[in-house]
Amino acid sequence: MISVEWRIYHYLSDFMQNTHYRRLGGEAAVRQLVDRFYELMDSRDDCRELRQLHSADLTQARDKLFMFLSGWLGGPSLYIEQYGHPRLRQRHMPFAIGEIERDQWMSCIDQAMSEQQLEPALHKELYAAFYKTADFMRNQ
Ligand code: HEM
Repeated sequence: MISVEWRIYHYLSDFMQNTHYRRLGGEAAVRQLVDRFYELMDSRDDCRELRQLHSADLTQARDKLFMFLSGWLGGPSLYIEQYGHPRLRQRHMPFAIGEIERDQWMSCIDQAMSEQQLEPALHKELYAAFYKTADFMRNQ
């Protein structure tokens, strides 16, 4: 449970720094992005390889990605508070991730961002940041 003071601190620091989190539209927008991302992954025929790596039930993956992105985008560090250091590359090691999986991941997040009609400069910055992270997850 995060204290009220902690939330206020994050809100103010985010407000003053004009973070990606704030530019995107805060908590509700990050949730919307993550929900749509997993809906697309779950339904797009051209993302089957990516979908198959995930559990049948996507609830936990969705919650964790939301919490992670909150901090990664410059908002509240929800993931670290609950699970500690993300060690993202290590956590992805059990899954075979090559260019196909990376590109499918990018395609879903790109479509989710497009549907949210982000300001073009923000879309471009986030695409580049996601790509760097997704490519770093490759272990094949
Ligand atoms: C490059 C392609 C990627 C693939 C194939 C992939 C695949 C996966 C899989 C299979 C899981 C486990 C989900 C489950 O339990 O059902 C997972 C977890 C996760 N992924 Fe990815 N991922 C990719 C990229 C990314 C990127 C770019 C990010 C962040 C920007 C990310 C953040 C996370 C997080 C936070 C978790 C939860 C980790 C945990 O606490 O267990 N992933 N990913």
